[in-house]
Amino acid sequence: MNQSTAMEPPAHARDDIVVANGTGMVFPGPVVALEDASFHVKRGEFVSLIGPSGCGKSTLLRLVSGLIKTTAGQLNIFGTPVDGPRAEIGMMFQKPTLLDWKSVFDNVLLPITLAGTVTKADQTRAIDLIHLVGLKGFEFSYPRQLSGGMQQRVALARLLTSGAELLLLDEPFGALDEFTRERLNLELMRIQSDLDATILFVTHNIQEAVFLADRVFVMTPRPGRLAATIDVPLPRPRTIEMTKSSEYNDLVFNIRDTLGGFI
Ligand SMILES: Nc1ncnc2c1ncn2[C@@H]1O[C@H](COP(=O)(O)OP(=O)(O)OP(=O)(O)O)[C@@H](O)[C@H]1O
Ligand SMILES: [Mg+2]
Repeated sequence: MNQSTAMEPPAHARDDIVVANGTGMVFPGPVVALEDASFHVKRGEFVSLIGPSGCGKSTLLRLVSGLIKTTAGQLNIFGTPVDGPRAEIGMMFQKPTLLDWKSVFDNVLLPITLAGTVTKADQTRAIDLIHLVGLKGFEFSYPRQLSGGMQQRVALARLLTSGAELLLLDEPFGALDEFTRERLNLELMRIQSDLDATILFVTHNIQEAVFLADRVFVMTPRPGRLAATIDVPLPRPRTIEMTKSSEYNDLVFNIRDTLGGFI
């Protein structure tokens, strides 16, 4: 048997970054948080996840991240079953979870510090990312000296420093004002295309879900199920002007209609 061939997944499987097949999660209670989810996410795809509160969006992200284990079905990441957190996967939560006693710079470098040695190039990149998220001048401030939105931007820079290929973002910009959110959304898409990263992005905002995504996964209330997958064929790079188009607004309306049917 040719060992290298046997060990390598087929080409199509290499392109599938996340493959869920009948994936389910029941918490003790029992609480059925996710039921029978089946989907593929391809390399470089941007998928938005939307659904009512408590429908299992965060649960799905935590399953993909390896923080919790499925209770039913299969879940493969990069061609192998999830069995714990991995370096190729980065996660960002609604709250920034920064270390209070470390500066912005040290917080952003944390994933690299934990992984081993920090090089000069890593430090330069960390500074670049801090500037990219709009925090020039705050490199050596501490989290307590920043607003909530600024702390969230530090968390975004930290996520990008990790070099993860699969980024899981759980309502990352929910607490930010409209314009900051818009700017960070544009930056996130630009960075995604530069890095060829794959993104799963949870949001409650239908407009944001459509603006960012190649596909929107719409979930039902508990027990959370994938009710619909909606393609967003708007060209890239996306611009704010596109939100005026009828194509964009039809998609937003369609998702609003689908979600409204659950309430
Ligand atoms: N660790 C846990 N133990 C028990 N039940 C849990 C746990 N985590 C989540 N749940 C339950 O699973 C269901 C889905 O929760 P989840 O956090 O995934 O929802 P969500 O869609 O992210 O909601 P929101 O939009 O409010 O953030 C909820 O009913 C919740 O109570
Ligand atoms: Mg949640």
